[in-house]
Amino acid sequence: MQALLGIFFFSLLTTGASLDCVVCRGETFCTGRKEPCPSAADVCYITLAERPKDNTTVTKVVKGCLSPDLCKIWFEIDLGQDKHIRESTVCCSKENCSPDSPELPRMPPDVNGKFCPSCYSKNDVCPEEYVYCTGGNAFCIGFITVTDTNVVNSTMKGCISESGCQTLQSMNRPLSAFPNMRNVTCSQAKVSQASRAAPSLAYPLLVLLLMKLLL
Ligand SMILES: *[C@@H]1O[C@H](CO)[C@@H](O)[C@H](O)[C@H]1NC(C)=O
Ligand SMILES: *[C@@H]1O[C@H](CO)[C@@H](O)[C@H](O)[C@H]1NC(C)=O
Ligand SMILES: *[C@@H]1O[C@H](CO)[C@@H](O)[C@H](O)[C@H]1NC(C)=O
Repeated sequence: MQALLGIFFFSLLTTGASLDCVVCRGETFCTGRKEPCPSAADVCYITLAERPKDNTTVTKVVKGCLSPDLCKIWFEIDLGQDKHIRESTVCCSKENCSPDSPELPRMPPDVNGKFCPSCYSKNDVCPEEYVYCTGGNAFCIGFITVTDTNVVNSTMKGCISESGCQTLQSMNRPLSAFPNMRNVTCSQAKVSQASRAAPSLAYPLLVLLLMKLLL
């Protein structure tokens, strides 16, 4: 009985101590008031996001309370034509924590033999274009964004990692770079003709080389 009571009071104590996090939004830096977190979102986070806007790149910093299972957000979407979306989140569960500004992911520039449809459009129409994927980006993502009145105001397609795509697809939290993101699709990237053609081109050359060496 005493042990049960002990557990009861212990859990009262631990759930009673709610964490306070700075809540703010900014472009490259933000400060704000500390607010108590709801019990379902009991870690502080800082998200850094970068996305194209017309011909430039804009960044956004968001701080607040988050559910711990949403802390592992780290991805890069390559939209082709030198346009990227990058996002990274760091979390901290201690009171008064201030994690450093997250590093934005940067895929190694070497192509990996896969390709995806590529799009950065201001409506729901995309030209038929493709982008060669790099690094660990072996999945294709597609999504739309909508205005507050549910009108499609952009369509984006490109290469992403499998885990990045699945996170975005299953995430209830709106992507901080695109709060009105909808209809996220994920599919395995296709193997490019170019990389399949390479061995068949190289093979006769190798045979020639061998013949030259042997003769
Ligand atoms: C973006 O760049 C293209 C090509 O350089 C140019 O035609 C277009 O006007 C630019 N758009 C904006 C909004 O600056
Ligand atoms: C689409 O509309 C939303 C809501 O007005 C806005 O926040 C967002 O920046 C717009 N997206 C684009 C790509 O214009
Ligand atoms: C987005 O998904 C909704 C619901 O599945 C669908 O009705 C709508 O046509 C989709 N929009 C686009 C642009 O694909």
